[in-house]
Amino acid sequence: MKNSLLRTAWAQSNISSPYSIIYIKMLWGDEMQKFIINGGRRLRGELALQGSKNSSLPIMAAALLCKGECTLHSCPRLTDVYAASRILNWVGCKCSFSDNTAVISSEFIGRTEISECLMREMRSSIIFMGAMLGRAGECVVSVPGGCELGPRPIDMHLAALRKMGVDIRESGGSIICKAAGGRAKGARISLAFPSVGATENIILCAVTADGETVVNNAAREPEICDLCGFLRACGADIKGDGGSRITVNGKKQLHGCEYTIMPDRIVGATYLSMAAAAKGELILTNACVPEMEPFLSVLEQTGCSVYTSDNKIYLRSGARLTAVKERIRTMPHPGFPTDAQAVLMAALSVADGTSIFEENIFDCRYRHAEALIKMGADIDVLGKVAVVRGVSSLRGASVEATDLRGGAAMVIAALCAEGTTEMTRICHIDRGYEKMEEAVRMLGGDMRRA
Ligand code: UD1
Repeated sequence: MKNSLLRTAWAQSNISSPYSIIYIKMLWGDEMQKFIINGGRRLRGELALQGSKNSSLPIMAAALLCKGECTLHSCPRLTDVYAASRILNWVGCKCSFSDNTAVISSEFIGRTEISECLMREMRSSIIFMGAMLGRAGECVVSVPGGCELGPRPIDMHLAALRKMGVDIRESGGSIICKAAGGRAKGARISLAFPSVGATENIILCAVTADGETVVNNAAREPEICDLCGFLRACGADIKGDGGSRITVNGKKQLHGCEYTIMPDRIVGATYLSMAAAAKGELILTNACVPEMEPFLSVLEQTGCSVYTSDNKIYLRSGARLTAVKERIRTMPHPGFPTDAQAVLMAALSVADGTSIFEENIFDCRYRHAEALIKMGADIDVLGKVAVVRGVSSLRGASVEATDLRGGAAMVIAALCAEGTTEMTRICHIDRGYEKMEEAVRMLGGDMRRA
């Protein structure tokens, strides 16, 4: 109990020294926690969606660009968000939380180098590169390694920033960036693939650059629009977000603002898949319905009843799910989201019939399949294709969360399995879901953290 309280205190702390991070992690081993899940209960109830992780992280980085105070409402309490706040405090900002509101003051910046240890706490820390360049015209960050989804290159980020007049050198794992004359320059950039992170880094660097930046083949994800919405509230001049061509006119300085982060469409897809698999009934409130359409249109094909109104989604799943006939292809937005692939796969593993997934965004995004197979699922993975033949029931097992969404998929499988599942490495799940065990218990599921 004492250890658990200490672990929670650390995860939520703003301590930014890399040495304290290593020390505290060694001492309390936040990777030792596990979930105990007893399956077979019907889930029923109402949940309010948390704020989006994938919006919060670039928006927190963007707060670096504002000489003033930014107040972010609906900021989810997640380990990745705390990792971003530790980076902000490390470079000299003041970031504090009160419930789901984060207040970031970036009046003063004392450092432009982000320690490797802080960078490695989360892969998305690479977006601090564009933000720091936008604020200070220089930065030193570390090369992100591969991650649980396979190699995560940043070649497009670097090529784009170079086009904006930033000199970038790599030395001993560090990336040393310096804009000529202390300010990046506007440029015309065409991305070979609509990378979310590269689009964000370009926008973050461009909002205070000298002149106009045009990004062709930009990512169209709703979180890009949320980032742009925040930056506009800070005085930035950005047009075309949500489309493939974004135009940014650089301003000398941005100011602080008050902003509410959009709901998390992937967390929404997770709880809807969970209720669907557990023959449940769910009302999701604070939902971003239009942004969730690519997922909802596939979910409807499983035979569940799905109704939407304003910011609410209602789902009822009485009988066994039916397999999805069309191949489920993950694609950049507005295609089916790669982040929802694992959770839908868990639900379809108990559907009637065979569903086929095609993963087109990441090379290594079927690692959860092995755990689902251990629980009795019938899945064949052949390169980027996974064939899921629905089984009538799953059984509890000891499994290890492989990554954030893969871990969530295992929770879904465990909740509709017979018997008990013990899941380790749940630190992956805490990166993106606010107290998942409490949400599941509110819906009537039997899930606890030990
Ligand atoms: C973001 C999301 C992640 C989501 C992904 C795709 C955040 C914090 N993360 O990740 O949840 O799964 O978008 O929707 O918002 N690539 C390159 N070179 C580059 C950049 C990317 O080859 O310079 C490749 C990647 O390896 C990957 C693909 O492009 O195969 C898509 O990556 P990208 O859109 O950049 O994803 P992230 O921003 O990392």
